[in-house]
Amino acid sequence: MNFIKVIEEQEKHIGLIQLNRPKELNALNLELMGELRDALKNLDNNNQIRVIVITGNQKAFAAGADIKQMADKSAIEMLQIDQFSTWDQIRKTKKPIIAAVSGFALGGGCELALTCDMIIASETAKFGQPEIKIGVMPGAGGTQRLTRAVGKARAMEMVLTGKFIDAEEAMKYGFINKIVPVEKYLDEAMNLARSIAQMSPVATQLAKESVNRAFETHLDEGLHFERKNFYLLFASEDQKEGMAAFVEKRAPDFQGK
Ligand code: HXC
Repeated sequence: MNFIKVIEEQEKHIGLIQLNRPKELNALNLELMGELRDALKNLDNNNQIRVIVITGNQKAFAAGADIKQMADKSAIEMLQIDQFSTWDQIRKTKKPIIAAVSGFALGGGCELALTCDMIIASETAKFGQPEIKIGVMPGAGGTQRLTRAVGKARAMEMVLTGKFIDAEEAMKYGFINKIVPVEKYLDEAMNLARSIAQMSPVATQLAKESVNRAFETHLDEGLHFERKNFYLLFASEDQKEGMAAFVEKRAPDFQGK
């Protein structure tokens, strides 16, 4: 892999993906996105892994799609390359994904963070959808996910002016989970990942699916989906173990079955 690094903390059940194109501020070229898609698929299929963390470096999570790679393309070439289809893998990942963001998360970088399930930000994080400044618009969910995350007026302002918001504002808007000092953002994300990795992976997967359903459907259908998943969990050994451990006043040992 040329543009990402994957580190598996097997005994802790965490897979860490680091975007690794530092000179270009982790601009998301097609090769990097292909590697990211494959890495997510592998980690999602790896029974030892329960939670995934995606990070960049202190200066940049990712400064967006690679403008130099796109600049001369025609509409038909863009259609044929269909680069955003690789993004579907991120959305389809069953395990929780935490974005650990420091520095720039712009354009596709902001969209990547928003596609993850939770965001831990360093105090230097800057989020924005500046595509409008280069004559285009968000193409990987920015107009949809950002609007759901922060509301219409704020999304409209960010998408139409391209202005960046800092971590404090992102926190106020409710689209990140926590702000931490820059030297701690990755540790904090890993700690969050480890705490989720201690839960039953079966319950975690169905709970993630159910929360996501809240963004995709109306309340009646969402409640129905949630209820069925709740009942389904009573088919898992982890449910028996979790409830027995509570009654016996001991820590549960979840096996993901
Ligand atoms: C290609 C990029 C890039 C990008 C930075 N670089 N962002 N290359 N695509 N998106 C490159 C620069 O060309 C430069 O390389 C090197 O990274 C360092 O960047 P500088 O601009 O010198 O750094 P700085 O002055 O600190 O400014 C940082 C910045 C700026 C504010 C983040 O780089 C910037 O505005 N970048 C573009 C942000 C953007 O518009 N993103 C949206 C892209 S469109 P060289 O070799 O020239 O020195 C998009 C569509 C979404 O994301 C669709 C979904 C995928």
